[in-house]
Amino acid sequence: MDGVNQSNFLVFRLFEWYNAEVAKVKRIIVANWKMNPSSVKEAGKLFSDVVKAIPSLKNTEVVICPPFLYLEQLRKISRKIILGAQDVSSEECGAFTGDVSAEMLFNMGAKYVITGHSERRARGEGNSDVNKKIKSALSVGLVPILCVGESARDESHGYFNLVKTQLEECLNGIQKASISNIIIAYEPVWAISSTVNRQDAIPADCREMVIFIRKIISDKIGVQTKMPKILYGGSVNDKDVEGFLKDGGVDGVLVGRASLDAEKFSNIIKVCEALNK
Ligand code: PGA
Repeated sequence: MDGVNQSNFLVFRLFEWYNAEVAKVKRIIVANWKMNPSSVKEAGKLFSDVVKAIPSLKNTEVVICPPFLYLEQLRKISRKIILGAQDVSSEECGAFTGDVSAEMLFNMGAKYVITGHSERRARGEGNSDVNKKIKSALSVGLVPILCVGESARDESHGYFNLVKTQLEECLNGIQKASISNIIIAYEPVWAISSTVNRQDAIPADCREMVIFIRKIISDKIGVQTKMPKILYGGSVNDKDVEGFLKDGGVDGVLVGRASLDAEKFSNIIKVCEALNK
């Protein structure tokens, strides 16, 4: 290798190393807008208000997952926030009325896609469907955010087995390197804002499950392979986000209701950004 090539090679390695370090420390805040708001105009306003309210970010990646049909408009507003989708078809293309394929999402500027959300599971989606959707997302380079979580906590701790089964079945047949790049969101259904008679989860509830999830994943991919990032979701707001990020053992949060309020959502982002300073 001559001198110029050698220094290019070193710069390239340094760049790679830097990216890996940044990827390690960056936390992720994901907004799940669900089926809101009801017009593209309101969606644009909410998105722009968040963009304006947040500082330039060094430690935090912000992802907004709006309804599919707002993606194109929102991508024109700012690249400061990354876009994701809330669901994806398990099929590549063809006669699947109402479905939206991974390739369409990718071409529309989405980088992430939520899969296996409890609100979709409640409408009949099973682990094998989620598994196909994850594979379909990975095949085009989208990052799947796999949601897992129990509906209730029982005294005999059966909920650990439920989450284990969700992880094993949803990740079945996926290569270790791909599992590293997936994001796992632990969302106890009993804490989600739309659940009737919901209860607050505390960082300790989150931490014990996150330790368990890390164990399941490291048994699957080995300790040498990079661990996927893990998020917490379930009524996260600007008051409790710090606790989950500091004591919940997670790399970020998935926010539903509070992400529909630009002020609350940007406060959540600011809390996260301030943590690594
Ligand atoms: P929530 O939603 O923050 O409104 O509880 C989280 C989610 O369902 O992803």
